[in-house]
Amino acid sequence: MNELTQAQLLERVTESNRPNGNPRVQKIVARITGDLFRAIDDLDISPDEFWAGVDWLTRLGQTGQYGLITAGLGFDRLLDIRGDEADRRAGRTAGTPRAIEGPLYIPGAPLSKFEVRLDEGDTQRGELMVMEGRVVSIDGKPVAGAIVDVWHANEIGRYSHFDPDQPEYALRRRIETDAQGRYRFRSFLPPGYAIPPNSPTSELFAAIGRHGNRPAHIHFLVTAPGLRTLTTQVNVPGDTFIDDDFAFATRDGLILELEKNTPPAGYASLGVTSAFTRVPFDFVMQPAVDEDESAPQARLARAVG
Ligand code: DHB
Ligand code: FE
Repeated sequence: MNELTQAQLLERVTESNRPNGNPRVQKIVARITGDLFRAIDDLDISPDEFWAGVDWLTRLGQTGQYGLITAGLGFDRLLDIRGDEADRRAGRTAGTPRAIEGPLYIPGAPLSKFEVRLDEGDTQRGELMVMEGRVVSIDGKPVAGAIVDVWHANEIGRYSHFDPDQPEYALRRRIETDAQGRYRFRSFLPPGYAIPPNSPTSELFAAIGRHGNRPAHIHFLVTAPGLRTLTTQVNVPGDTFIDDDFAFATRDGLILELEKNTPPAGYASLGVTSAFTRVPFDFVMQPAVDEDESAPQARLARAVG
């Protein structure tokens, strides 16, 4: 049977999956292939359009930008919405809301106890701030020895590692909470972020008439034994894009409150000698229901492991 209708073709493509394959992967591939066959048919996608799309995907992969596209098309937030729905069904609604990791996390940042400076060097790169608070469980108990992994963009909205002009692990640190569950770090309020210009990502968003801006934000990955790993990000209030985030990641409960003109007493160990912006924030964590939930690895390591 070498003459095939579309339906027969799809059946052949799917049927040719062999019993020694991974059943879950087979099911997902069959479904997505079928959905794409249907889209090509419904939208009458021409061969030129199809191959232009394949070329774009190739360039997207070559530039490592798949994670930028997933955030901009809402997939990352979709996974959070599904996580929230599962939490509601399980009665696990307390605690700091989750928010997308984004594509720009790098594991293994330098580790300090209790406090650290993220803003190396003497130049003032923005509004000086100290963010501080505690890691607590949902019953209010402080969590000693939690690891607060923090990362944010530099003064022109770029992230180290992905930006060759910054030192390794610039603006990326891990902080271990003290006996009272406290952490604090000094940095500057980061500006917003925009997707890289002249890239496969910017091509797509220009073509669909959308901007690629994210409001100013700071990322966190908080881990502690027995508690569910918390991936979240907080927003600096007042940003133009706070209600129009390219990645749909801003959430109530994650907008910071800034205490401007805080006197420097008590902050000498962070080199703070004049009035600064204090940013209080506690991370409230759910108990883990299994070991996976408290596994300290980030997204990719969890998926691979
Ligand atoms: C993207 C960038 C970010 O800094 C982020 O937090 C989320 C998404 C992006 O380019 O898609
Ligand atoms: Fe980010």
